[in-house]
Amino acid sequence: MVEKIMNDQHTALCKASIRIIKENQADSGAYIASPNFRVYNYSWFRDGAFIADAMSEYDENKSALDFHLWATRIILEREEKIASLIRRAKQGEEISPDEHLHCRYTTNGDESEEIWTNLQLDGFGTWIWSLDKYLQRGNQLPVATYRAVESLVGYLSSFWKIESYDWWEESFGHQHVANLGSIAAGLEGCSTWESLSDGSKKQAAQTAIEIKVLICERGLVDGRLAKWIDGTELDASLLALIAPFHLFNGTGSVSRKTVAAVMSELGTFGTYRHKDDDYFGGGRWLLLSCFLGLCLVSMDEKEKASEILNWVARHANDDLELPEQLEEPLLHPEMRAEWIERWGPPALPLLWSHAMYLSLYSAIQKG
Ligand code: BGC
Repeated sequence: MVEKIMNDQHTALCKASIRIIKENQADSGAYIASPNFRVYNYSWFRDGAFIADAMSEYDENKSALDFHLWATRIILEREEKIASLIRRAKQGEEISPDEHLHCRYTTNGDESEEIWTNLQLDGFGTWIWSLDKYLQRGNQLPVATYRAVESLVGYLSSFWKIESYDWWEESFGHQHVANLGSIAAGLEGCSTWESLSDGSKKQAAQTAIEIKVLICERGLVDGRLAKWIDGTELDASLLALIAPFHLFNGTGSVSRKTVAAVMSELGTFGTYRHKDDDYFGGGRWLLLSCFLGLCLVSMDEKEKASEILNWVARHANDDLELPEQLEEPLLHPEMRAEWIERWGPPALPLLWSHAMYLSLYSAIQKG
């Protein structure tokens, strides 16, 4: 599927990325976020969906399907819980954040007992989006997966409005635009699937529209996307709405202004998550530069996107592993030691970094 003309460095890094992802996929199908970092020894719906998408883009459809089946099982095992949450919400009952579906699971598909910022609904939307891409490539899904999606359509349509944590598992108490966009992308994607019931298709399409209207009416500031509804902050996760979700046209004004703001305020060659980031001192994330590259491809700026790709490739270590973030320059260097003491050195390799590198490489090849 991807053109085979790769230069040596990229050939090696693409191969290594696929190998590293496969080596860290459990027999259950779960992708471990990072093998060498204790708190990332779980599989997130968000990371996993982007990883499965990259794998299927490279014809690694068995790996992608194994993940999709793992995710299917997680949702179906919680089908009754989901139905009961929806029922309770309809009756006006208060639901506490921890009663919701969790964002990450053990490779066996269990919730972690550790205290965590579990309420992040974006991963379920991104998963459905990645299923849609998987189908668009000519693959098939089992009936069970459609049933899991039906359940999620009801769940996301009932709860997309609630305040949650953001993509970075921080900042509780807002409707984060990146989370909303991930849900809209998934619901829009599945709204045309023949294998879904008419009711679910309609509900998915209607919710996706409501989300997009809310973003356009209250999720913009100075013509660019804002981190949360009625807010003014900038966050690099917003790039996903432009690419790969394509909720906004790459050449339109919202996309141009958002990309320009991210490039000037958060960085092009190494992109900060947001200006207040102090996680491990607040380093530059490789995968966010890849999202930026994907946006640039959709804006017809392939040359700049290729420069970013080359820059990312230069940050692989001798074992061709890509880290989550770079050690310098940091936004808050004074915070780094505290995080290292708490959790050890930051994640390396990070499977999501490898996945986004693969996706950017493919997008550049295809133009
Ligand atoms: C990031 C999440 C990510 C998780 C696993 C966290 O530090 O904020 O977005 O899902 O790591 O990679």
